[in-house]
Amino acid sequence: MKYNRLTAEHIHHLSAIVGSHHVVLDENNLQRYAHDETDDWQFLPEIVLCPENTQQVSDIMRYCHAHIIPVTPRGAGTGLSGGALPVCGGVVLATERMNKILRIDENNSQVITQPGVITQVLQEAVIEKGLYFPPDPASRGSCFIGGNVAEGSGGPRAVKYGVTKDYVLNLEVVLPSGEIMQTGANVLKNSTGYNLTQLIAGSEGTLGIITQITLRLIPYPPYQLVLLVPFTDAVKACEAVSAVFKAGVTPSALEFMERDALEWTLRYCHDVALSLSEQEQAHLLIEVDGFDMDMIRKDAEKVAEVMDACGALDVLYAESEDEKNRLWKVRRKVGEAVKSHSVYKEEDTVVPRFELPHLLKGIKKIGEEYGFHSVCYGHAGDGNLHVNIIRGDLDDYQWNHELPKGIRKIFELCVSLGGTISGEHGIGWSQKQYMDVVFSTSELALMQRIKQAFDPNQILNPGKIFPDK
Ligand code: LAC
Ligand code: ZN
Repeated sequence: MKYNRLTAEHIHHLSAIVGSHHVVLDENNLQRYAHDETDDWQFLPEIVLCPENTQQVSDIMRYCHAHIIPVTPRGAGTGLSGGALPVCGGVVLATERMNKILRIDENNSQVITQPGVITQVLQEAVIEKGLYFPPDPASRGSCFIGGNVAEGSGGPRAVKYGVTKDYVLNLEVVLPSGEIMQTGANVLKNSTGYNLTQLIAGSEGTLGIITQITLRLIPYPPYQLVLLVPFTDAVKACEAVSAVFKAGVTPSALEFMERDALEWTLRYCHDVALSLSEQEQAHLLIEVDGFDMDMIRKDAEKVAEVMDACGALDVLYAESEDEKNRLWKVRRKVGEAVKSHSVYKEEDTVVPRFELPHLLKGIKKIGEEYGFHSVCYGHAGDGNLHVNIIRGDLDDYQWNHELPKGIRKIFELCVSLGGTISGEHGIGWSQKQYMDVVFSTSELALMQRIKQAFDPNQILNPGKIFPDK
């Protein structure tokens, strides 16, 4: 697609829609919108527009549609697959001013929110009413709920409570043409026509711009117990994962960290003191939650028995709120810690949980074959393993030409184990070259026809999801 560069007239018109104070044009400030958290990629937009309401989003889209100007929607820019990168230049449409929780509907256990609300802010607001929105990506203190919906994000609590998508009841969406639509209704059941809500959720900002979100909520379970379980062997730790569920316990989190992940994070977070013995090669972080402390204790005991039977070195209970928070802090900071330690590439592999040990073994073997070191961690209870491939001393050729072959091998392994190539980070810009590992040409063509139906001029978040031809 041939896109138009922005002219002075375009800039004038688009600026008038949002007001000149809410436009970014100077290069220094444009830089802030040139990257997300994916690799070290930088793509400078020509302009950033920060609309305040749905009508302004619609006016922007209508104009850009008519003038064939690319538009890349952006939340907080915490994404890990390059979804918010303006790879074709043009407009970045930032939702940061659409940051209001519109209504907490206690009668129906729902919240209606704008997309630019920080996820943790939303969670805390509903907890005050005794309600719970469980999905909590590691970046919950900075990511936006709109980005979470658009990217299909998950986080540690998905293992018991499901991912963001599972809470989305209804969306207000601005189509690339500028038309404003509702995808569904604010109801718990809906068998009315195609499920456009779940098509837009996870579509990575390629089909429409989410301007309002209705989420269902559940009662907030006030009690949690957290266990940290060291293992001498990472594969053994992975083997213990499915045993927990087989014993009849559904933990509210079951996270895995290889030794390097934990060690680097402890170095990165100075305020968490935890000593690691030589023997400890991996850890499971397990949380059980609920409404009845006695029941949770029983669940925790059952988990501890399972861990023991699976060869754990020890089972450490976090006693106080403070200890629990510190353990969770460590887990949430792993991604940042790895990033600060080394240049790396992140893969978001996912397999049925029983296959996790095979996935881990396979990844290490492929690493040996292609000469890379990987640090793995993630949501073991979901079979969702984040594979951080460390650049180390790989030269440019190995990093840019050989490594993608190794990554392809990892993804082929995922598919052969019944899994897929992204559990919660999306495809975006960084993973699109691997889509053919999962989908046939005709399956991809079907998705592209859907894209074409929504976005005939191909202006919305171009260059994402589909492999280059
Ligand atoms: C995490 C992010 C990287 O689980 O998804 O820490
Ligand atoms: Zn994750």
